[in-house]
Amino acid sequence: MKELEDLKGVGPATAQKLREAGYENVEIIATSSPYEIAENTGLPIELCKSIVEQAKEEIKIDVVSGYELYKTRQNIGKITTGSQKLNELLGGGVETQSIVEFYGKFSSGKSQVGFQLSVNVQLPKDKGGLEGKVVFIDTESTFRPDRIAEMAKSKGLDPDEVLKNIFVIKPQNSEEQILAVEKLEYMLKDENIKLIVVDSLTSHFRADFIGRGSLSDRQQKLNRHIHNLQRYAEKYNLAVYFTNQVMENPGMMFGDSTIPIGGNVLAHAATYRVYVRKGKDEKRIARLVDSPNLPEREVVFRITSAGVTD
Ligand SMILES: Nc1ncnc2c1ncn2[C@@H]1O[C@H](COP(=O)(O)OP(=O)(O)O)[C@@H](O)[C@H]1O
Ligand SMILES: [Mg+2]
Repeated sequence: MKELEDLKGVGPATAQKLREAGYENVEIIATSSPYEIAENTGLPIELCKSIVEQAKEEIKIDVVSGYELYKTRQNIGKITTGSQKLNELLGGGVETQSIVEFYGKFSSGKSQVGFQLSVNVQLPKDKGGLEGKVVFIDTESTFRPDRIAEMAKSKGLDPDEVLKNIFVIKPQNSEEQILAVEKLEYMLKDENIKLIVVDSLTSHFRADFIGRGSLSDRQQKLNRHIHNLQRYAEKYNLAVYFTNQVMENPGMMFGDSTIPIGGNVLAHAATYRVYVRKGKDEKRIARLVDSPNLPEREVVFRITSAGVTD
């Protein structure tokens, strides 16, 4: 979607007037009346008519037949997590055309699951993979190639080949993260990418917007970011796995007061939202939260030197 400044006749000053009056993006303008915009911004009516026309041109409505949707759904692939129990929790594994979120405290195993999926997606289909490649967005500098190599070996794969098929991006802040994902599109198809890992989705957003008092700005950017990922998942038939940090919910006096970062924007972004926590030794407990079509329940899996297992 274009920016306001891309509309003919809209310079920085006009764009500012529009934004201040609440016309923040091209969609809003496309659905507003030019007279209303003129009244609320003081801009000339002819200009308002022109930008509404242009904005309408920009909005594309995709129409697909039910048959096409049916065909697309049939192409859904599943990536094994390495644990049957965890696969079951997710309806059979991590699906393409969907988004899986793991949130939990530090050291709960979120990154390990991301590494394991990055290996497993490369497996042949009869072994639970999709013979595809990976984009790994590492925002916390916790990507560990040696750990991936260890997991690859235990699956009988050549570690060098596995690592060559993982494209790692290390954005330094939330802006770079957003842009990295936007600029990724050209390689998604060419490289047969079947998995995008974002580990973690929220840490830069959390850090960049602290104390700025601009929570809505943050939520808007996060929203745009997650929408891009959703679009890729569907358009390129790939899976998106992202991790999320947690914070303490001060309003909750009893039980587990841990809640994920990201508020409303992330509350419904993932197709599967999983809360993971540490059990005894290698054990991890994964709980499916808020799934539209599966019951809320818990399973136990393990993280061993070989990777994620039952
Ligand atoms: N090579 C390994 N062998 C066994 N367990 C490992 C290995 N590497 C990491 N782990 C386990 O994974 C944990 C770290 O999980 P991680 O995915 O980094 O947590 P998170 O991303 O949730 O902060 C470690 O505490 C350890 O229990
Ligand atoms: Mg991690």
